[in-house]
Amino acid sequence: MAHDIFSLSGRSALVTGGSRGLGEAIARAFVQYGADVVIASRQEESLKSTASRLQTEGTGRVAFVPADLTRREDVARLAHLAREAFGKIDILVNNAGSHHAQAVTDIVQRDWDELLELNLTSCMMLTRALAGEMKERGWGRIINVSSVLGLASRRKCAAYSVSKAALIGFTRASAIDLGPFGITVNCLAPGPFNVRAPDATPTDRQRENFTRWTALGRWGRPDELAGPALLLASDAGSYTTGTVIAVDGGALASTLA
Ligand SMILES: NC(=O)c1ccc[n+]([C@@H]2O[C@H](COP(=O)([O-])OP(=O)(O)OC[C@H]3O[C@@H](n4cnc5c(N)ncnc54)[C@H](OP(=O)(O)O)[C@@H]3O)[C@@H](O)[C@H]2O)c1
Repeated sequence: MAHDIFSLSGRSALVTGGSRGLGEAIARAFVQYGADVVIASRQEESLKSTASRLQTEGTGRVAFVPADLTRREDVARLAHLAREAFGKIDILVNNAGSHHAQAVTDIVQRDWDELLELNLTSCMMLTRALAGEMKERGWGRIINVSSVLGLASRRKCAAYSVSKAALIGFTRASAIDLGPFGITVNCLAPGPFNVRAPDATPTDRQRENFTRWTALGRWGRPDELAGPALLLASDAGSYTTGTVIAVDGGALASTLA
């Protein structure tokens, strides 16, 4: 039988923000392709129910660690507990992220600091904590979930765009440092995905704007990020590093942003 270049059998992954939305979709794909997966986010109940659901959907095992990634002590604890869950982490997905809509003149310092802690600093800390052992094993995959708003921007997106653009810079730098050790580091840049985040239901007008922005004329479904994530996590992506894959229904092809 042909070797399945997308297989993640024998691999262990950490997916931050894996309790719902895009992180859950990525974690599901990994479990279905055979990886053991640790999901992490703040709310324990939601982690618990997502983990038990995922466990029935694939062959990989699932564990969870509650952690608030705006708190550096939680990030350090997560790196330790995630490694302990299945003995190693081969694949790190820095997916947890959030967004505050604030115009440049209205930026609240505390919100700015918190957003950068979550969207950027936690990604650096997890990479720093977990890449050492990947180097020793000579194999690793790091996927940073940026955004099309790290490549372009919109109104009231300064902090978010800065964090996501910086994450792309961090990805390129990490790819160069870690490439000689068999570790690839890449970004996914999603466009508008319908994830039904409880606190951030888009208004009809926002929904329509985003829909018109895409070439496909619709929002993405979370499962449509699974294929690109699998590519970057598996042997299929072995010669892909330091790059950004936009998964945006063609939004960046348009000037309608
Ligand atoms: N959806 C889109 O259209 C879109 C587009 C471009 C980029 N993205 C990026 O894709 C990633 C996932 O977005 P999503 O739409 O799936 O978001 P989501 O549905 O709001 O899910 C966010 C996940 O992150 C966790 N999280 C939030 N704050 C956290 C914190 N302080 N510490 C630990 N975990 C935290 C959430 O769980 P808890 O609340 O329980 O902590 C949840 O698991 C983000 O980085 C986002 O910027 C999304």
